[in-house]
Amino acid sequence: MCEHCGEKKTFYITTPIYYPSDNLHIGHAYCSTAADSMARFKRMTGYDTYFLTGTDEHGQKIERKAKDKGVTPQAYVDNIVSGIKDLWKLMDISYDDFIRTTDERHVKSVQKIFKQLYDQGDIYKGEYEGWYCTPCESFWTELQLKDGKCPDCGRPVEKTREESYFFKLNKYQDWLIQYINDHPEFIQPASRANEMINNFLKPGLNDLCVSRTSIKWGIPVDFDPKHTVYVWLDALTNYITALGYGSGDQHLFDKYWPADVHLVGKEIVRFHTIIWPIMLHALGLPLPKQVFGHGWLVIDGKKMGKSVGNVVDPVVLCDRYSSDAVRYFLMREMPFGSDGEFTLKSMLMRINADLANDLGNLVSRTVAMIEKYFDGKVPAYTTLEDVDRALWTLAEETPEAVEKQVNAFQFSNGLQEIWKLVGECNKYIDTTQPWVLGRSEETKPRLQTVLYTLAECVRRVAVMIGFVMPRTPERIFAQLGVEDEALKTWQSLIGKFAVLPAGITVHKGEALFPRLDVQKELERDAKQAEEKKPEAPKQEKKAEKKHEEPEFPEEITIDTFCQSKMQVGRVLECFKVEKSKKLLQFRLSFGKDGERTILSGIAQWYKPEDLVGKQIVAVTNLKPRSIAGEESHGMILSALDDSGNLRLMSVGEGVEDGAIIG
Ligand code: ME8
Ligand code: MG
Repeated sequence: MCEHCGEKKTFYITTPIYYPSDNLHIGHAYCSTAADSMARFKRMTGYDTYFLTGTDEHGQKIERKAKDKGVTPQAYVDNIVSGIKDLWKLMDISYDDFIRTTDERHVKSVQKIFKQLYDQGDIYKGEYEGWYCTPCESFWTELQLKDGKCPDCGRPVEKTREESYFFKLNKYQDWLIQYINDHPEFIQPASRANEMINNFLKPGLNDLCVSRTSIKWGIPVDFDPKHTVYVWLDALTNYITALGYGSGDQHLFDKYWPADVHLVGKEIVRFHTIIWPIMLHALGLPLPKQVFGHGWLVIDGKKMGKSVGNVVDPVVLCDRYSSDAVRYFLMREMPFGSDGEFTLKSMLMRINADLANDLGNLVSRTVAMIEKYFDGKVPAYTTLEDVDRALWTLAEETPEAVEKQVNAFQFSNGLQEIWKLVGECNKYIDTTQPWVLGRSEETKPRLQTVLYTLAECVRRVAVMIGFVMPRTPERIFAQLGVEDEALKTWQSLIGKFAVLPAGITVHKGEALFPRLDVQKELERDAKQAEEKKPEAPKQEKKAEKKHEEPEFPEEITIDTFCQSKMQVGRVLECFKVEKSKKLLQFRLSFGKDGERTILSGIAQWYKPEDLVGKQIVAVTNLKPRSIAGEESHGMILSALDDSGNLRLMSVGEGVEDGAIIG
């Protein structure tokens, strides 16, 4: 509540809008879980909270993927977005709005914003010549490239030259440096601010190319429709278009803007702290109060990501271990802001130690003893001893300690504060020995105090964990017999300790988090991974073998032969697949049949750069298969030469790209 006007304070938090990809992995879930935990925490602590998420659906990357699949970009994204929403439901991501950049409301506002910037002279027309990284949807100058590759992700870039609109970033560079220096809370953690200033702002900003003519899947510039709006400009504005900015109804915008925090992964801090603030400033709008760049979930030190192929599926984890356990692990294991190594083993150990043992045992022992000694009715406390007072004090102080940590995005520390109380409760059981107190009538009053104290602590813990584990509190309340909603609120933790009414009836229930057999779980996981392994590598091996010992039927019919569609393709791009010694990834053009990606195990025989521009022959109606985490849409034909080297099949001159072989 605001001390001055009595209105509820607002809190506006966003996740990045995700690129629609077939399956989001636990790294994406990490970002959403953190944002959701914060949103829940703010709601619980009295803020009028608005939590936005969504999907970033335009751009070259999506356009190509859709083409590969042979569907329209719109059909491609529609299909995926529903799956993303299902995942958020499974993980209890309590967003207030889900914006899609293909939403009419968004498209219209982006066009308006673009026009306004153009009209006021901040956007002008020119010609772009430089490099583009499609996975990052990012422009780079020759000088910025690292060994000829994208300095952000290390993948190959493509030469781009076309008429474009430009946004005058350079004009605002000094203003931004000043702003960042004057507002140390704007970029968090602070180390990321230094990185932005030293690596990008100090060397000088180039005006930014903000439209493309070669990409059709984007928002058309309405006054020059052969241009589509650069996908990052389109994406960043989601944070205000979702609130109705630029539409007839701006009441949400008036209420919630500026955002309290944009939560983003560290690799996209640059877009959020350079392009976005300059855009807002040019539009005359206030800047978000904070951009918080979190670290990555990594496996063997490498960012978990689809392109690396080291992804862990959150659906599998939630199905096996419950979404609350997964959320707890994500928020507890890694200090927010740093990278964290993900291993199943560490997750299982964490669940056993903190949830099955510490929390689960506390709840089950407390409830069992109240059933045993007091017929299931929570007893009233009597006289307090030092050991009780110490625990009461800790329980009274914990909420504030948690608030301090969580408000600073230190989720792990916040949970540790709660678990400190859980640990002290378990120690308290060991020192007070309720089972000894229960032996005689004389010590019954003492036992009353001990069990009341434990029951109230359990209630408090249940309230406090709810922002990270939204399902567990109700399960604990059911066992404790807490029905009154007022006893489930953060408010009920403020002030004196003894809030739980004596006399309510407990009900022993199932173990909250059954103990997991770590070894068995790891074996099961390894087995499932083995079964699920894409057949591709095996097929690849078979294909290689074929060169040595082909096994063909004696004869086939012409119909069988005609089932294979073989076409001439031209190599647009070609590069080595990082994880593999053998694989090259091709981007091929088949003329009017469009482009597709094909992987082929010929890296030991060809240098990728030598192949660009060449024509090859490929089977193009082969069922797509996943190889090393990438989808391959066809097979490139080759034969062994005398010395055992693979040679790509080619055709004579004058054959058009896309020509059918047969
Ligand atoms: O960047 N660990 O979308 P995106 C932690 N559309 N976080 C991870 C992660 C990992 N292994 N992998 C991905 C985009 N993320 C743009 C955003 S916003 C105007 C536009 C996080 O789907 C990543 O850091 O590639 C980012 O914050 C989010 O997932 C979305 O990534
Ligand atoms: Mg990304």
